[in-house]
Amino acid sequence: MTQLKPLIAANWKMNGDKALIAEFSTAFTTDKVNGIDIIVCPPSIYLDEFSSQVASNNSAIAVGAQNLSDKESGAFTGEISAAMLQQVNCNFAIVGHSERRSLFGETPQFVASKYATALANNITPILCTGESEQQREDEQTFTVIAQDIDAVIERSGIESFKDGIIAYEPVWAIGTGKSATPEQAQDVHAFIRKHLAKHDEEVAAGVRILYGGSVNENNAAELFKQKDINGALVGGASLVVDKFMAICQNA
Ligand code: 13P
Repeated sequence: MTQLKPLIAANWKMNGDKALIAEFSTAFTTDKVNGIDIIVCPPSIYLDEFSSQVASNNSAIAVGAQNLSDKESGAFTGEISAAMLQQVNCNFAIVGHSERRSLFGETPQFVASKYATALANNITPILCTGESEQQREDEQTFTVIAQDIDAVIERSGIESFKDGIIAYEPVWAIGTGKSATPEQAQDVHAFIRKHLAKHDEEVAAGVRILYGGSVNENNAAELFKQKDINGALVGGASLVVDKFMAICQNA
């Protein structure tokens, strides 16, 4: 398999402010971090300003959204469309984060429709999937993940993973300080690739699969050594320049 370019993505969730935007825009210059892709997903209110600042600071950062509407436009109060994201040079969007699935009732089919809308508007979707602690105990991990991926395949076809990114985020590892071990993560990443390969081996070999869940500057290197781990989706540790820089440099 050809080596896939590592990708480190930051999910700030409902954190950060204008000062953090300014700090990140100037810190991640292309000479400090090269050979990897970096995406930072701030709250949507900051996307426009962040895009302008990274563009004027020779930054290695690409800007991403944490969510988008599955609809193109219309009477959907509070929503943000893919076309609007495009207008502020936001070319990536997280879809189906576990917090959106559990707190906002997003189903695999609804997430799949967001994935489709993103792609239709030239936005690269980052599809999140992962099991809860109970589901892991019940040995439902692979079933849950297959369901999330199959919903996308049914809606958009296997080819849609040529232009997408997958993030495996076990719910029990998110914000808990209890990362999956490199072996646990590798197991699931290998499952995801095999599952995709049943439909198309080339697509399976080419898709980047990120690990997320308590990634920090100390555990990143071991995770990145795993064959099927192509990067990380980082929450808490992505809010501090030095920590996020260390994770990026480990990739
Ligand atoms: P933490 O890195 O804070 O565990 O969050 C992971 C996450 O949910 C990224 O999307």
